[in-house]
Amino acid sequence: MTAPIAIIGTGIAGLSAAQVLHAAGHEVRLFEKSRGSGGRMASKRSDVGALDLGAQYFTARDRRFVEVVQQWQARGWVAEWSPSLYHFSNGQLGASPDEQVRWVGNPRMSAITRALLGALPVQFSCRITEVFRGERHWNLQDAEGQTHGPFSQVVIATPSPQASALLAAAPKLAGAAASVAMEPTWAVALAFASPLDTKVDACFVQDSPLDWLTRNRSKPGRDNAPDTWVLHASSSWSKQHLDMSKEAVLEELHGAFAELIGCALPAPVFSLAHRWLYARPASAHQWGALADADLGLYACGDWCLSGRVEGAWLSGQEVARKLLQHQQ
Ligand code: FAD
Ligand code: NAI
Repeated sequence: MTAPIAIIGTGIAGLSAAQVLHAAGHEVRLFEKSRGSGGRMASKRSDVGALDLGAQYFTARDRRFVEVVQQWQARGWVAEWSPSLYHFSNGQLGASPDEQVRWVGNPRMSAITRALLGALPVQFSCRITEVFRGERHWNLQDAEGQTHGPFSQVVIATPSPQASALLAAAPKLAGAAASVAMEPTWAVALAFASPLDTKVDACFVQDSPLDWLTRNRSKPGRDNAPDTWVLHASSSWSKQHLDMSKEAVLEELHGAFAELIGCALPAPVFSLAHRWLYARPASAHQWGALADADLGLYACGDWCLSGRVEGAWLSGQEVARKLLQHQQ
């Protein structure tokens, strides 16, 4: 009997790979350090409803991804989002409509990865610290000192710095992963008791600590009672203020929001700050996925392609294709 395949990480890349491998008849086992799936597409439960603090929406440009998103739409996992779009630059706020189709998870971003995970076997709250080779198989060690295995192959589907550490048995792959730095993003959510008097649903921002803001309930399926907004700081501001306290980040980004939104801003009834340490790859690559097929070690994730949801999904497809191809 063949040993199962281990997949480390239940973001969209790991789940994209898991789907293909499972459909091809392989037994897969997933490991995830957080309490739930989704990674940077997870949604945080809060007193004011579920909040998409990471990925805000996604576009589909590759034909294969367009097709799968249409299937997700038919199953009700995603819906099209058509916000009243603005942009802010040089101190000016202006409408910025366009024709781009944008998608969101329905009723929250995490609905997609939750549906993809389905009944696949997964161990949550399990941070893998080492991937090591036994006589014929791979084993995983977790942060609690427990060993998991044996596995025939291992797919590492984490951000590049974490992947690099887990790829120690394949120095070339570890080096490639280590060469992709990832930049942070500070995210803030603010809720107001009564709706803000503005037509803005979402705004691309320049020349400010912020680079994005959106009104949560403009997205389909969200009808939070308080008017909740998600703000993202730019990479450069987030890097410069990496170790700032959450209270100070809230104050600074709330101030930047007040300056640009162009309407009265009452005191929020709810606020939270979240730091994404590995939010986006600093450089783009066309690797698809990394593989040492003879060893049986693989890596995928947005950092192998475009640094977007679509890139992460495509990378998961590519890693599965490489693995299956080697077995033929
Ligand atoms: P991840 O989602 O990071 O998944 C990796 C998983 O591995 C995580 O669940 C993590 O907990 C787990 N993990 C890590 N290390 C270990 C370990 N040692 N053991 C076990 N598990 C581990 N993209 C867009 O297309 N549109 C957007 O609007 C957009 N906005 C964004 C805004 C923010 C603030 C952020 C942070 C990202 C945004 N992105 C956006 C990018 C998008 O979210 C990512 O490209 C995509 O979700 C990455 O998926 P992934 O599976 O490669 O990685
Ligand atoms: P997209 O096509 O909507 O946006 C791409 C970029 O084009 C935007 O960042 C923006 O600068 C510009 N843009 C698009 N429409 C605009 C409009 N109507 N008015 C003004 N500017 C407009 O989406 P795509 O290509 O799928 O990109 C995903 C988004 O995810 C980007 O905005 C990117 O910045 C964001 N992202 C954020 C991360 C973070 O950590 N904050 C990480 C990864 C992606």
